Amino acid sequence: MIRKKGQTIRLDTPNTTLVIKADTAEYLYYGKKLMSAGGFEALSPTPRKIFSQYGENDYTEYGVLIENSDGGFSTCFSFSKSKILTEKPEIEGLPSSYGEGKTLELKYIDAPTKVCLYLYYTVFDDCDAIAVSSRIVNQAKKEICVRRLASLQLDLLGDYSVVTFEGAWARERQKISRDIVRGVYYNDSKKGMSSHSRNPFVIAEGKEGVYGFNLVYSGNHKEAFERDEQGRTRALVGMNDFMFGWKLAPGETFCAPEAVMCYAPSEDELSLSMHAFVAEHIVRGKWKKKERPVLVNNWEGTYFDFNEEKLLAIARAAKDAGAELFVLDDGWFGKRDDDTSSLGDWTDNADKTGGGLANLADKIRELGLEFGIWVEPEMISEDSELYRSHPNFAMKVPGREPTRLRNQLCLNLADERVQNYVVRSISDVIARSGAAYVKWDYNRSLTDCYAKGVAQGEYFHRYMLGFYRIAAKLTKKFPFVLFEGCAGGGGRFDLGTLCYFPQFWTSDNTDARARLKIQDGTSYGYPQTVMTAHVSACPNHQTGDSNPLETRFNVACGGVLGYELDMSKLSESDFATAARQIEFYKKNRKLFQFGTYYRLGDVFSSDVGGFMVVSRDKSCAAAVVSVSGKVLGGPVPRVAFKGLAPSAVYDVTTRPQDNYAAEQAFSAGGDLLMNGGIFLRDLFEDLQSKENSGCLYTRMYLFKKNKI
Ligand code: GLA
Repeated sequence: MIRKKGQTIRLDTPNTTLVIKADTAEYLYYGKKLMSAGGFEALSPTPRKIFSQYGENDYTEYGVLIENSDGGFSTCFSFSKSKILTEKPEIEGLPSSYGEGKTLELKYIDAPTKVCLYLYYTVFDDCDAIAVSSRIVNQAKKEICVRRLASLQLDLLGDYSVVTFEGAWARERQKISRDIVRGVYYNDSKKGMSSHSRNPFVIAEGKEGVYGFNLVYSGNHKEAFERDEQGRTRALVGMNDFMFGWKLAPGETFCAPEAVMCYAPSEDELSLSMHAFVAEHIVRGKWKKKERPVLVNNWEGTYFDFNEEKLLAIARAAKDAGAELFVLDDGWFGKRDDDTSSLGDWTDNADKTGGGLANLADKIRELGLEFGIWVEPEMISEDSELYRSHPNFAMKVPGREPTRLRNQLCLNLADERVQNYVVRSISDVIARSGAAYVKWDYNRSLTDCYAKGVAQGEYFHRYMLGFYRIAAKLTKKFPFVLFEGCAGGGGRFDLGTLCYFPQFWTSDNTDARARLKIQDGTSYGYPQTVMTAHVSACPNHQTGDSNPLETRFNVACGGVLGYELDMSKLSESDFATAARQIEFYKKNRKLFQFGTYYRLGDVFSSDVGGFMVVSRDKSCAAAVVSVSGKVLGGPVPRVAFKGLAPSAVYDVTTRPQDNYAAEQAFSAGGDLLMNGGIFLRDLFEDLQSKENSGCLYTRMYLFKKNKI
């Protein structure tokens, strides 16, 4: 709800209140919902600005920086008007959140040039996250250049620590916390992708609660935190200004991507709000609320070395085990037998697919499975027909050797002809195979940004606009296809891609112990519905460690479940275990994929962790508890559960796991289970602990509300 009293504007979400004084461009309050009305003047004047510009007596990081036609950088945007909109304005060319709610529009004008700055704040009726965006409209008579335009600025008072989710390939989104004592801290990416290194989701934690920020964008981003001499911590969230400069002719508009901010009293509550926001207002289309299929992917089972016989053997075993979708990964096209060739040639390799995709896909469907396909549409191999016929499609700087990563170059998506080629060729792959699922991979970062006729400062963003145009066209054309994003694992796991692809491959690291951390870090900002998780073979291909199949399954239940191994090679007993797991998962899939998700313990600071999903009505729940490393001689680890109805009594059982002989079954009150917790007494009596070199002990507890 948005209410206006003069230029004091109050925005309420179910649990938070934001008060803005539009004429002075200040935040008066942002935090826990206020019950009282008015009295906000007592909070003014405050040094908390809603935007900052060069040329004022404020030297903290600037949110807006414009190069005027006279070469100067000063602006003095001052208040023009405020409006409450019932429709959320489109952000042209960019993905953004959607849903019922109201939007506050604020307009500021730089009097000498007539350049306008617009800020938008959208509150949704059902969720505490607030969507914020900004744009510049050049109403001047001459061209200007936007050097920086933050999507969101929030000035905070007091001491804050900043929590980020950082990592690398196979180690995505590890939680790190640092105090912002003085100076500036940047969480950013210059890789042309949101990146494995630093996810755009960040949290500022202070005494009165936590503030979460994220950006609906998949390219270069920058979250700046500056603690200044006034004791103010300025948070700026937006596109990275690295190499950035966007020329704006008279009459033109530049829209910054949308950002999102959310206040909550604790990290757990912040995650619940972010999950609700992503699930309701970012993910869209036919798959938004639809249970996702259990898939079997051949990548770790075969890598590039497959033929029709091998694929059908895996698919047959997958079907017998109860899986629903078979995904053919990299290596089915051109003459691709390793990563040195064929990207861009989306033509069938008849030898490896038994006469072509259509043929193979039909055979898979005859077995009773849906067919899914891997593509990497934004790339080109120099050894490809596409490169030989259209070398100018590749992203390269003339006269310079390009940087090759995984032996490949990027396509120049800033060029509409290249975008159209991608739409055409990928449409054809989907149409001829009848694919029900597409894994959209992206396996390198951008290094040789250049295109004739495109200003250097605009390149990174034009690439993203190209990517979004393609993604929009293809998802519209194939609304029933389930698209899964991927980027060398989880390198483009962000709200931008999730607007098109309802799920994302969390990491190439499928080791259960490593995955637990990766999924846990991811869960701070993203719900389990968008996080895919696969059971793979042991010893694990990334770490060389082993864990029992039941442990690998328990951990994979923290996301959307799949298997990524050669199912036809499983031992009889492992196959039977996998079949039991899939049957159990399908029965409880709604709970696992769409239940309310809680983290248990803290895998980043202790050995005890896990997660829990609770049905919306709290009548049932499932928890996976984990302990990393065997504790000898005590103390017995203890875990407290979350999200249950405090006054209800639950019947608690353990999921039968073939690595434990003894089952547990008891009844206890919801409040006792959450406050007292339980001791994990027999956790280390794992019958297969010899095979547990990754040393991770997990058990799954199931809760059913007792009717009596
Ligand atoms: C990336 C993906 C993997 C797999 C390979 C194929 O690394 O993350 O899942 O698809 O590419 O080359």
